[in-house]
Amino acid sequence: MAINTLYKQQAAMQHQRNVIRPSGLRVGRRCTVVVRAGVVETLVKPFTTLGKVSDLKAGIAAFYDESSELWENMWGEHMHHGYYPRGAPPKSNQQAQQDMIEETLKVAGVTQVRNMVDVGCGIGGSSRYLSRKFGCRATGITLSPKQAARANAISRAQGFEDKLDFRVADALSQPFDSGAFDLVWSMESGEHMPDKRQFVSELSRVCAPGGRIIVATWCHRVLAPGETALRPDEAALLDRICEAYYLPAWCSVQDYKTLFEENGLVDIQTRDWSEEVSPFWGAVIATALTGEGLAGLARAGWTTIKGALVMPLMAEGFRRGLIKFNVITARKPAV
Ligand SMILES: C[S@@+](CC[C@H](N)C(=O)[O-])C[C@H]1O[C@@H](n2cnc3c(N)ncnc32)[C@H](O)[C@@H]1O
Repeated sequence: MAINTLYKQQAAMQHQRNVIRPSGLRVGRRCTVVVRAGVVETLVKPFTTLGKVSDLKAGIAAFYDESSELWENMWGEHMHHGYYPRGAPPKSNQQAQQDMIEETLKVAGVTQVRNMVDVGCGIGGSSRYLSRKFGCRATGITLSPKQAARANAISRAQGFEDKLDFRVADALSQPFDSGAFDLVWSMESGEHMPDKRQFVSELSRVCAPGGRIIVATWCHRVLAPGETALRPDEAALLDRICEAYYLPAWCSVQDYKTLFEENGLVDIQTRDWSEEVSPFWGAVIATALTGEGLAGLARAGWTTIKGALVMPLMAEGFRRGLIKFNVITARKPAV
């Protein structure tokens, strides 16, 4: 069967399968069609699993409003993968998460920071860590009002009130002057962005000349020469993850590199740390299966439970080489 016909049939079937979830959001699987197109031009269109960008944003906000307290209770202030290089001595998951921050700084060659933006800040763990390390100011943005409030509360309690500020704002339309920050930091928020081109364009705009950009994000594998799309079974796996975690179409690290280049960024570095993060999902599943984890899930609600149910699919995606943990760093040229 011609591939185009197959796509059309699957898209029609997926459209029929669209359902209204208890949250009231329409949940679909449209990202399959986008992922298969396999070109940056298609990937960066504002096309979401939920059909509309506004629904996706509301879904992300509700997801983190609901699940962040449980994550903080079980894992602490960092809501991202840990860095567990092969052969290193055993360490706590929290240490591995701090090591992730340190390792990304090394890739980017960041040795000092004055004023940073934390794009997709969660409850502010990266901002506090980096402010402690560099004495810098930080402004964090998230779609979740509860995360922003919690990030401000923890930071005040730890004496950061003069240095750190967190608020609800959209990474695709940031409320900041151009060139405002010497470090633009996005730790595991890029996968939520429905328009990757606009995302990178905003990161680049708010970065000061001579400043650095660090993005750590989930990507799909780089397509092999001659391939124009992921395989249907791969796209189907990503769809199920998209639906549970409020993600739009995925792209590859190569797509990010192209977007960084389009924005005139230089010293672009990329890393594939899929191997280095591989113990993470097993550790998350193990904590979810404790008495405290299960009770917390039951208290948190359906959206969080749905997220927990697809955790094995993340592990499977990494095992199959489909899901990649990538880091992309760059410098904005000084004028
Ligand atoms: C997995 S959490 C990562 C949090 C934090 N960076 C950390 O490492 O602890 C993803 C974050 O991205 C944020 N996010 C997703 N889409 C966003 C958008 N369009 N604008 C701003 N924040 C967004 C979410 O609200 C959430 O805070």
